[in-house]
Order: sequence, then structure tokens, then C-alpha cells
Amino acid sequence: MRSLLCGTDKCVPYCEKVMKNMIEQLKNTKDLPDDDLKAIIESSDSEKELFEVADTVRKQHYGIDVYIRGLIEFTNHCKNDCFYCGIRKSNQNVKRYRLTKEEILSCSQNGYDLGFRTFVLQGGEDLYYTEGMICEIVSEIKSNHPDCAVTLSIGERSLETYQRWFDAGADRYLLRHETANEEHYKKLHPTGMFLENRKRCLWDLKEIGFQVGSGFMVGSPFQTTDFLIEDIRFLQELQPDMIGIGPYISHQHTPFHSYQSGDFHKTLRLIAILRLMFPYALIPATTALGTIDNQGREMGLKAGANIVMPNLSPLKNRKQYELYDNKICTDEEAAECRMCLEKRVESAGYRIVTDVGHVLRGSRG
Ligand code: SAM
Ligand code: FES
Repeated sequence: MRSLLCGTDKCVPYCEKVMKNMIEQLKNTKDLPDDDLKAIIESSDSEKELFEVADTVRKQHYGIDVYIRGLIEFTNHCKNDCFYCGIRKSNQNVKRYRLTKEEILSCSQNGYDLGFRTFVLQGGEDLYYTEGMICEIVSEIKSNHPDCAVTLSIGERSLETYQRWFDAGADRYLLRHETANEEHYKKLHPTGMFLENRKRCLWDLKEIGFQVGSGFMVGSPFQTTDFLIEDIRFLQELQPDMIGIGPYISHQHTPFHSYQSGDFHKTLRLIAILRLMFPYALIPATTALGTIDNQGREMGLKAGANIVMPNLSPLKNRKQYELYDNKICTDEEAAECRMCLEKRVESAGYRIVTDVGHVLRGSRG
């Protein structure tokens, strides 16, 4: 593929026309050469145009519908020590908690009554919950709510374990690859954690038949635009159903506490780029986006996102699942959270639907 950049000084940084052509090409071919992608990621000059085109594509596939996912953060214990994460094993300031099966079922019942048809069980990598316990929790949620989907987001496991969870009824799995660059991965994680294993998990999940979500943080320490392009290229290989990206936000009790948080507008541009490359994908306007900017989730939707994830976790535990500083939505009951988001989504020109919200595979192409 040839770059649209003319390579002369005449249009540096990049003239409006060149940028416009690149956005159009991205929309039509769902791809761009690295140099052109780099220009769109780095420059805010044509982002208004970029967001409009991404919104048009999103509307072609999903209309103004926004799917909601009820997030149940059921454990903040973790055996891992990711340098960026507030609930990492070595953070002694965290008051640790685990929800019982009954508490998890009660969160999902509450969610069901509020119109949720997908439950996302997320947590640290906590081996207290055995393979069998997760099977039991998943199958009880599914038997209580046969019209709902269950998503798991509990880290790296063996193919056999994933298979059992799938057989127990889990429909989807979220596992961000975090960064597709080996060197960068090593800078974000301690020894003993391997990008290769994370990728292996994603391929296993896909092979088993899960709807798979991957993604990365924007602006994580040591990230470069070239690394972001590697992230995008990896997603092109994986062809995930869901793509979760949000800004990196620093946490005071991690080794990365002094690193700056990611750039809000760059995150929005990446959402828009991903919408144009993966028109069918389920892309959330994340809580991290809403934390870094009060209008973050609304702007995320306008840039191409089509999912929001209100919190269904018990109020008493919300602040204990603090992945980054000042995380929002820790003071409202599930019903309030749901209503607040409904208003926000409407104010942005979209509508929340009561729907299981599977990926529209038919529109993949
Ligand atoms: N343990 C599971 C896993 O590793 O996939 C799920 C929980 S983990 C906390 C969920 C996601 O939170 C991670 O994939 C990471 O991208 C994000 N995250 C962690 N720390 C963050 C931070 N400081 N800023 C923004 N996002 C963060
Ligand atoms: Fe395990 Fe963050 S280090 S969830």
C-alpha cells in the first residue's frame, strides 16, 4: 500500500487535503500504511473530521444503539504485579476483598432488573476461585438468566480451563494484550509475565469459540506511536469481536506513580481509527475515559464507541477496585449509575438498548 504523504516540505505537518484523503482511504479500505496511520494518531488537526466519519460508519452498522455491560468486579486479589495497576500484588495499601457466589448472583439479579443482558465478571488473577467455582458461578447466572451473556475477564489460564468455562456457558472473554511489542511488554510487567503467553491465551480463546476482546492502554509509560501501530497490526491479525482501549491513568501506589497519564484526545483518535478498521467491533467508551475527562464517555461514543459498562459491584467494594487514581462511579448505586449513563448517552445523541448485544458478525468485512 502506498502512503498518501507526499514526502515534501510543502505539506508538513500534513495539509488538510492529505489528511482528509487518508481518513477516506481508511474508511474505504479499512487499512492504511504505517506512516499515514502515524500521522492520524499524532495530529489533532483533522480529528473533527475523523470522528464524524467514524460516527457515520458506527451508525451504518449499529445505528444509535449503545449496548450496556454490567460490570461485576468480584475480586481485587491478584497474583500479578503489573507495574501500572493499582491492585497489583505488591500494593500493600489495598484492602482486599472477594465476593461470594451469592453476592455475585445478587449483583446479576439486580442488573437483570435494571435491563442488563450482559454481565462482565472481572477481577485480578485470583486462584482462590477455582476452575470449578467459576464454572458454577457462570452456569448459575446462565440458568437464572438464559437470555443473557456472561463475559469473563480474569486473566491468563490454560486452554483446558478456558474450555471448561466456555462449556459452563461463558460467552465472551476480555483480555487486553496491553502492548504487542515485546520490549514494551517487558517494561510494563515484571519478569515471569510473557507477551507470548498473553497472545497464546487470546488465540486459544478464539479457537474455543469465545467472542474475544483485546486492547491496550493509550499513553502507558514508554509507549511510542510505533508501538501503537504494532498494537493495531496485532488486532488486525486477531480480528477480535471487542476492542477495549482507554487512557493509562497513573496510580499513586504503583512503581509508575510519577508517569503522566495518557492523552485524552489521542485516545479518542484511536477509538475512531479502530472503528474505521473494525466497523463491526464492540468498542466501549471506558470508565478510564470518563475519569480523565468529565465528558469522556460521551465523546468516546461520538468518536465511534458503542458500549458503556456501568458498575454493578456492591457499593462497599467499589473504591477497593481502584486500578488508577480517582476512578469514577465509586459512589453510586447500580441503579444510579445506570440512570446517569442513560442520560449521558442520550445527551450524546444515542440510546441505551436492553439487548444481549452480540457482535454483528454479518457486517464484518
Ligand atoms: N486481571 C484481568 C486481566 O489482566 O485481564 C482483568 C483485570 S485488569 C485490572 C483490567 C484492565 O485494566 C487491564 O487489562 C488494564 O489494561 C487496565 N488497567 C490496569 N491498570 C490501569 C491503569 N493504571 N490505567 C488504565 N487502565 C488500567
Ligand atoms: Fe492483576 Fe492488575 S496486576 S489485575
